Amino acid sequence: MASNVIARAGANIAFIKYWGNRPGADNLPLNLSISMTLFACVTTTAAALLDENASGDEIRLDGAPPGEKSAGRICLFLDRVRRIAGRKERARVTSQNSFPTGCGIASSASGFAALAVAASAAYGIRADAAELSRIARLGSGSAARSVPGGFVELHPGSAHEESFAEPIAPETHWPELCDLIALVSREEKPVSSAEGHRLARTSEALAGRLAAIPDRAGRVRQGILRRDLALLGEAAEEDALSMHAVMLTSRPPLIYWSAGTLEAMRAVYGLRKRGIEAYFTIDAGPNVHVLTRKKDAVRVADEIAREVGCEVLTDHAGPGARIV
Ligand code: PMV
Repeated sequence: MASNVIARAGANIAFIKYWGNRPGADNLPLNLSISMTLFACVTTTAAALLDENASGDEIRLDGAPPGEKSAGRICLFLDRVRRIAGRKERARVTSQNSFPTGCGIASSASGFAALAVAASAAYGIRADAAELSRIARLGSGSAARSVPGGFVELHPGSAHEESFAEPIAPETHWPELCDLIALVSREEKPVSSAEGHRLARTSEALAGRLAAIPDRAGRVRQGILRRDLALLGEAAEEDALSMHAVMLTSRPPLIYWSAGTLEAMRAVYGLRKRGIEAYFTIDAGPNVHVLTRKKDAVRVADEIAREVGCEVLTDHAGPGARIV
C-alpha cells in the first residue's frame, strides 16, 4: 500500500449562497458564491492507495462505515480523481469531523475539500490551488470554497475548467468577525442539497434571485474588504432569505426551517433593535448562523441559547485545506 496522506479542511459559511446547478455531474453552480472558511469545524481525512487487486474502496467516517448513499457518493468522487490521475487502484479513506456527526453542520464542504487534497496527493496528481478547488467541487459545490482559507469566492462557469474558488482576503484579515452556530436541530435534512440544486430550476423566484446577485455580491465583497459588518450582514441576511424563497417556491417546495429557526431569527432581530450588531444566515437546514463581532459574541450566543433553548457553537475564519 502506498503511503498515507492526511489532509485537513474547514467547513465554510456562505454569505452569498450557491443554490441551483447546471444539469450534469460536475456541480456547476448557476451563480457565484462567497463564503468564509471556518477554523474550528474541520474534517481530517487520510487517503492511501490499496493493492491493485483490491476490489473496492474502503471508507470509514467517524470510525464507522458510511451509509449506502454517502459511500456511493464518495466512491463516485474517487472514480473522478482516478480518471484525472489515469490510475486504477482503489483507496482506503478514513475521515474524522471535529464537530459531532449528525449535529446538523454540513460536513460535505470540509469533507470533500479534505478528501480532494488527500486523494489528489495519494494518486500523484500535481494540482495547484485552483485545480484542487475544481476537484473538490466534483464532490460538493460548496467544497470548492473550502480549499482556499479566509474569505473566498467561487466562480460559477459553464464548464469544469471555469468553476473554481479564489481567495478575496486571507484568514487573518478580519479577526473580529465571528460565526455563531445555533444548533436548532440535530436531525438529518429530509432532502439533500444535491436534490435541492436540481429543484431550484423549478422555482419562479430563481430568475429574480439570479438577477439580484451581482449587486448583492458587490456589497458582500465591500463589506469584507472594509470589515463593515452592517454592509456584509445585511447583504448576507438578504441572500439567505432569497435562497429560502427559491426553496419555498420549488416544485415540490422545500421547507428546511423549524420553529427554532424562526425563534433564532427573531432573537437576532431583537438584538439588532437594541443596537447589537448581529445578522443571520441559514443553509439547507434548520440551523442558524449568526455573524457578529468577537466583543459581542458571548452575549449574542447566551441570548440565542436562552431564547431558542439550543447549543451555540462559536467559530471564525480559518485556513484553507492542507496536508498535515
Ligand atoms: O455543496 P452543497 O451541494 O452541499 O450545497 C451547498 C448549499 C448551501 O449550503 C445551502 C449554500 C452554500 O453556498 O453553502
